[in-house]
Amino acid sequence: MFEKLTLKDYELKGKKVLLRVDFNVPLNEKGNITSTKRIVEALPTIKYLVENKAKVILCSHLGRPEGISDPKFSLKPVVDELRRQLNMPILFNGKLVCFETKRLIDNMNDGEIFVLENLRFDPGEEQNTPNFAKKLASVADIYCNDAFGTMHREHASTVGVAKLLPNCIGFLVEKELSMFSKILKKPKKPFVVVLGGAKIKDKIGIINNLLNIASSIIVGGAMANTFLLAKGKKLGKSKAEPDKVEIAKMLMEKAAKQKVPILLPDDLVVAYEFNFLANSVIMPVDNLTQSDIAMDIGPKTIHKFSQEIKRAATIFWNGPMGVFEFEKFATGTEEMAKAISKSMAFKVVGGGDSVSAVEKTGLTSKFDHISTGGGAALKLLEGNGLPALDVIMNKGA
Ligand code: 3PG
Repeated sequence: MFEKLTLKDYELKGKKVLLRVDFNVPLNEKGNITSTKRIVEALPTIKYLVENKAKVILCSHLGRPEGISDPKFSLKPVVDELRRQLNMPILFNGKLVCFETKRLIDNMNDGEIFVLENLRFDPGEEQNTPNFAKKLASVADIYCNDAFGTMHREHASTVGVAKLLPNCIGFLVEKELSMFSKILKKPKKPFVVVLGGAKIKDKIGIINNLLNIASSIIVGGAMANTFLLAKGKKLGKSKAEPDKVEIAKMLMEKAAKQKVPILLPDDLVVAYEFNFLANSVIMPVDNLTQSDIAMDIGPKTIHKFSQEIKRAATIFWNGPMGVFEFEKFATGTEEMAKAISKSMAFKVVGGGDSVSAVEKTGLTSKFDHISTGGGAALKLLEGNGLPALDVIMNKGA
């Protein structure tokens, strides 16, 4: 319906541009933002629109309020942060599209910014109802998607509205796609993938696809436990997915056929109870007893994984190596962050906890790209495309 375009292809002066951003930022219990990365990364597109005298209408979700207006998930703290970052007034009435909102938008001056309230306060957003998509389209002339982190979702603000207006992608989405294409299209070899996190379930598609592209795959975190079970190891009370053991076996068979080694832990930091103060010992993976809980990878494993990382020319990392949220069991994840940061490879990190690990170790500047997308980055690496991108590229969704 519409041509594939970027913002630079549009005459923007006086145009109302609905800009979908991903302001789904982490908040602490006091409601304060704990990482402004997603806001900062959206600024180039916002500034470009302001400088080119568009009327900028920002929209985003925050958290999962499930279709109910809940002040806990209001975009108010994000608006305050935006005011600080941009040092300019920003219009916000705490509402979605309604009579009052339309009136305020109609009275906007060129170069002004208006922020709609959390899109997920309306059930029509996640259900992608035609009615909600139409409401969003009714306030704008052009739709721009710069919410890379949400492009795997088929929602009214990511797919529905894109079908109703002249559309394009923003600068952040352009940057993310260009970084990921370096990984997906002919990455420099050896290409080492480092995966962690709790569930194999979320990573089956990506392992399956990356076995066709990568040189080796390092697996840590609780998802490694399922692979270890598949190899016949006993893991006591450690977190694992016994119902995914067959899938783990299938992936290991494919890896052997493709000659892509899957590297697993040889030793683990083991505790007897799951808490942040738990006493722990280092144990080879063969020695765990019924009451043991794996909390982190051990020093031999850190060494083995680091050696593999050293030989890489391209690295993608997603997911922690252990119970990273407990300081005592964050060593494996932090050591991976350090090992990757020292490498001369092209280095990309995607996903919440691994990004926090990089930020915590102060190594952000050592990485070529720290993605704003968790689920979206994984979907892209599964090789199946992103619905919100497909609709702009005219493939429909
Ligand atoms: C994310 O944080 O991954 C995106 O903002 C999408 O959020 P969601 O998983 O709640 O859809």
